[in-house]
Amino acid sequence: MRKRLIVGNWKMNMLRKEAYELARGIAELVGDVSYVDIVVAPPYTSLDVVYGVISNTNIGLCAQNVFWEEAGAFTGEISPYMLIDAGCKWVIVGHSERRAVLGETDEMVKRKVAASIKAGLIPILCVGETLEQRESGKTMEVVRGQLERGLDGVELFSSDSIVIAYEPVWAIGTGRSATPYEAEEVHLFIRNVLDRVFEGIGDKIRVLYGGSVTPENIEDILSPPNIDGVLVGGASLKAESFARIVRLAGRIG
Ligand code: 13P
Repeated sequence: MRKRLIVGNWKMNMLRKEAYELARGIAELVGDVSYVDIVVAPPYTSLDVVYGVISNTNIGLCAQNVFWEEAGAFTGEISPYMLIDAGCKWVIVGHSERRAVLGETDEMVKRKVAASIKAGLIPILCVGETLEQRESGKTMEVVRGQLERGLDGVELFSSDSIVIAYEPVWAIGTGRSATPYEAEEVHLFIRNVLDRVFEGIGDKIRVLYGGSVTPENIEDILSPPNIDGVLVGGASLKAESFARIVRLAGRIG
């Protein structure tokens, strides 16, 4: 049985004081929840203030990016060990915004995934097609390629060592989420790819959906069997709406 996982990706938002307030609000509303796993991903500059608020709750800390080297002359980069040192247990890797805006490739994603797992962080590997790719019938081909290249040679300690997030690019920040049917079709496909790549444990790895998730659509989105949680952007920036998503996710399945 895969436990539901709800992740709030704050993206490049929140000064330290705002991050502190948001973390406080979330901790007060759902900090003792254990029926789902809860994770928040603030920007690097707020990791420490958020950790100070959530370290004694059930909420986990996640970074939004990582570099693959352990230490050295890599100006501006942050290693997996530094993230662990800052209190992180999780890290988002290969978000479509990084792929599109910063030119992150599957090769880079693979290195980040492998380095994170080696250090003991759990990477949340993001995959997903653009609208153009979907409309030209290439969704499965794109997702399979991102998974196969992003996971090439990666070794897991267990099925809990990694999480996959399916985030169709056309659904991110647009208010147009995938339908449960559209998402489930891809989630099932992802599970089959994982089962092949990791020889028989694809069924145990959590696969999240991301893209315009709100308290209003969370119940629908989580209704299919292969959607194990959500990666929430905009609706995670208010404690009340994120907490509502968490509570509603606990009522289903
Ligand atoms: P929105 O929920 O704002 O669409 O963002 C989704 C996302 O990119 C989460 O990583």
